[in-house]
Amino acid sequence: MTVRIDEAYEFPHRHLLGLRDYSSRDILHVLDQASNFLEILNRPIPKIPTLRDKTIVNLFYENSTRTRLSFELAQKRMGADVVNFSSSSSSVSKGETLRDTIRNIESMKIDMVVVRHPSPGAPHFITRCVEAAVLNAGDGAHEHPTQALLDLFSIRQRTGRLEGLKVVIIGDISHSRVVRSNIIAMTRLGMEVVLCGPRTMMPLFVEEMGVRVSYHLEECLEWCDVAMALRIQLERQGGGLFPSQREYHERFGIKKRHLKEFPHFVIMHPGPINRGVELESEVADDPRAIILNQVTNGLAVRMASLYLLSGGKRGPS
Ligand code: NCD
Repeated sequence: MTVRIDEAYEFPHRHLLGLRDYSSRDILHVLDQASNFLEILNRPIPKIPTLRDKTIVNLFYENSTRTRLSFELAQKRMGADVVNFSSSSSSVSKGETLRDTIRNIESMKIDMVVVRHPSPGAPHFITRCVEAAVLNAGDGAHEHPTQALLDLFSIRQRTGRLEGLKVVIIGDISHSRVVRSNIIAMTRLGMEVVLCGPRTMMPLFVEEMGVRVSYHLEECLEWCDVAMALRIQLERQGGGLFPSQREYHERFGIKKRHLKEFPHFVIMHPGPINRGVELESEVADDPRAIILNQVTNGLAVRMASLYLLSGGKRGPS
């Protein structure tokens, strides 16, 4: 489906650091652009020259599979020159600072920087060191804006709407950047959000972000239109926040029997999935799960974001 884009609307952002800075109109504009990019991805030759004159660096200071591949593929589909950097194989392991790395990279005339970093605020810091447009691919437990955009896109694609939709987000709320970006965007778009998970992984005063909290998975699954399970972020926890993965699964894992009992909700997960922990394996593979659609849509959303931040000329047609 080709979406009509509001041509008079001037996209007001130079960077995508987090969704806190994006209005509901900005968010919907990215999603509408992404619909048209998705159509290009379904063509026999899924390539366009939109970023032919751009050079982009992907700076990954943390592991990543989906996000990294998706950004790189999006850039290549749009004809950009792409260079990849990962901290383990670079001079970072020789002690170089982020500021020095980024200034060296800028000397190579880079137009856009995609960055994933374990420290919250690293992408914001980079905007102060370089002229290039900066896209946040995940900064610590802070934000992961393109993940939330692709989640919204996938929800809209499956259900046909966003406003008024009821979403439960289940799991390790405290350590998740995916949940933070989603809460900001979903509440802004008039969706109802409930957070569900162990008390030890629930931030204090999170209701101030406009969401509700529940500790009863089944009540949430009965109520919701969409259930988004999150991975337990063992690498960011000190440990000891729950007794065992088996007990976590007992209380907060979505199971096959839930699909029968509550025949309504759509299942999402940002990946990587721990089968048998957040989701029973059959749940991850059920047709009600849109987990692989999220991955496909991630490509379209990242193409749209790169296009808009590159100045928005020569878009999809
Ligand atoms: C998420 C991340 O890295 O924040 N994954 C992703 O980008 N697809 C979630 C996670 O690691 O659990």
